[in-house]
Amino acid sequence: MKRLGVNIDHIATLRNARGEKHPNVVDAAKLAIKYGADSVTIHLREDRRHILDKDVINITKNKNIPTNLEIATTNEMLKIVIKNKPEFVCIVPEKRTEITTEGGLNLNKNKKKLYTFIKKLNNQKIRTSLFINPKISDVKLSKLLGAQCVELHTGKISNKIKNKQKYLKEFNDIKKCSLTAKKMGLEVHAGHGMDYKTAKILSKIKEIKEFNIGHFIVGESIFFGFKKVIKKFIKIIK
Ligand code: PXP
Repeated sequence: MKRLGVNIDHIATLRNARGEKHPNVVDAAKLAIKYGADSVTIHLREDRRHILDKDVINITKNKNIPTNLEIATTNEMLKIVIKNKPEFVCIVPEKRTEITTEGGLNLNKNKKKLYTFIKKLNNQKIRTSLFINPKISDVKLSKLLGAQCVELHTGKISNKIKNKQKYLKEFNDIKKCSLTAKKMGLEVHAGHGMDYKTAKILSKIKEIKEFNIGHFIVGESIFFGFKKVIKKFIKIIK
């Protein structure tokens, strides 16, 4: 059975546009779970452009909301994780100037830092996932670095599908990485840029256990409502 993680960063984007409390991010997290999502994902960025520290505190303290906190490997983030104890952490690369997380981690370049960081998360018994490009060498390295899961970046295939281009190569790369990861004992997640069509195509890969979807859910909810959109994704992926 595949799980759905709903990324609510852009509910915070909308709230921050007015600097007030509406739409309430904690309410969104509670509703996502009520409507059948398995977890909620929030990305605390260094520049706090959407999710704020108080959101992390208020969401993680509610133990009925399984929370996947996306962070970069900084000491500040490690302290926040240790203090707030989210159920899951996904380590992502972060560049200040990017609009969104453009690609997976550069594992090779950051091996030492990641190994030490993951060890500290493992000591806290927090399930740790690495956001990587669908490359076999990165899957293997993720295992060596001590992660329990890999989240495969689905940005490339999502763009190809949206632009009605051929996507077989990207699909096969994700499939091969999923198989390799599973064989090595890593749990496989997928995320970035997905809509209904991409989710439907990728849900054919049985090794993928979790989808993390955000922007499309929040955008589509404007027209059809949060409940309907979440339920539709659940129907597609399960
Ligand atoms: N997974 C990870 C690791 C992410 O960083 C993001 C957001 O960039 C997502 C999933 C969700 O992507 P999207 O908002 O495009 O659905």
